[in-house]
Amino acid sequence: MNVLVIGGAGYIGSHCVRQLQEAGHRPVVLDNLVFGHRKAVAPDVSFYEGDLGDRAFVVDLLRKESIEIVMHFAAFAYVGESVEDPLKYYDNNLARTTYLLMAMREAGVNRFVFSSTCASFGIPERMPMTEDLPQKPINPYGQTKLDVETMLKACAEAYGMSFAAFRYFNAAGAAEDGRIGEDHNPETHLIPLAIWAAQGKRDQLTVFGDDYPTPDGTCLRDYIHIDDLCRAHIAVFDKLKTPGAALFYNLGTGTPASVLEIINAVERVTGLKVPYRIGPRRAGDPPALYADSGKAQRELGWKPRFNDIEAIIATAWKWHQAHPDGYGSKLD
Ligand SMILES: NC(=O)c1ccc[n+]([C@@H]2O[C@H](COP(=O)([O-])OP(=O)(O)OC[C@H]3O[C@@H](n4cnc5c(N)ncnc54)[C@H](O)[C@@H]3O)[C@@H](O)[C@H]2O)c1
Repeated sequence: MNVLVIGGAGYIGSHCVRQLQEAGHRPVVLDNLVFGHRKAVAPDVSFYEGDLGDRAFVVDLLRKESIEIVMHFAAFAYVGESVEDPLKYYDNNLARTTYLLMAMREAGVNRFVFSSTCASFGIPERMPMTEDLPQKPINPYGQTKLDVETMLKACAEAYGMSFAAFRYFNAAGAAEDGRIGEDHNPETHLIPLAIWAAQGKRDQLTVFGDDYPTPDGTCLRDYIHIDDLCRAHIAVFDKLKTPGAALFYNLGTGTPASVLEIINAVERVTGLKVPYRIGPRRAGDPPALYADSGKAQRELGWKPRFNDIEAIIATAWKWHQAHPDGYGSKLD
């Protein structure tokens, strides 16, 4: 398949590009590099620097590269910023996705894979989280993702477009060979922050609250290895052959880890101490978020291969050791 990967120079997109190649597909990347890294994409992959909201440019690209499926990873994803500057999020995550879908219609491309998020559920009523839980996002970031899901449903009904929306829990780790990995700026994800604290790249990690109703008082989250996440995206391709397919899947391992468990696991993997302090709770952080991925497992024949948090962290550690300055490091 000829697959357009939008946001393919970002963390998740770049790992998907590699897996597409390994599975015998032909990925083409579109990224405006606002956050992504040109070096995260191998030189043999066609790369277009541009914006997903540039309709005429995207129509041309879809036609020129004979694209059959679009995978859309490009979004802004800082929850706090989305509260302070919601229009920035409605513009990039929702409005530009609307123009992208219009471009796809114009070019006659009707298969779509979308990065949604567990943040589209807000504060869930029960754990583990199944797809049928009510979605009540509590910030503009989660709302923009839910709005795209709603728009996709309408497009499936009206135009016979087929799509899969994956609600990710916490993407973690790096490619097993350590050549590509996570390099966000600013970084807000726990595992890279704990590794940086262990390496002395930052003074101290702050744990936001230790008085939650969880076994050790810190928040529980579901960390899924990046390659497991990407494999599910490719496993869905067959199902997208059905016109009007409207598919939703929660992707996690179903086994949560607390913040303190992550810190301890980072210490075991790296052999280094993670300096940390306990700070106040952060507004809007639910005590626990973890997935029931049974639907993806049953329908896609997919199963996470990484079920052990230390094994996930070990892949991140390999990347960070080899690339102390992320993609700014000298790459092999
Ligand atoms: N990382 C996680 O744990 C996580 C969890 C849930 C959902 N998600 C979602 O997964 C997707 C990918 O996340 P990530 O961590 O890889 O993010 P990322 O920032 O590393 O990658 C996003 C990429 O999209 C590009 N981009 C942004 N806006 C663009 C635009 N208008 N046109 C073209 N390119 C644009 C950026 O340059 C970047 O390369 C996002 O949609 C995010 O909301 C991520």
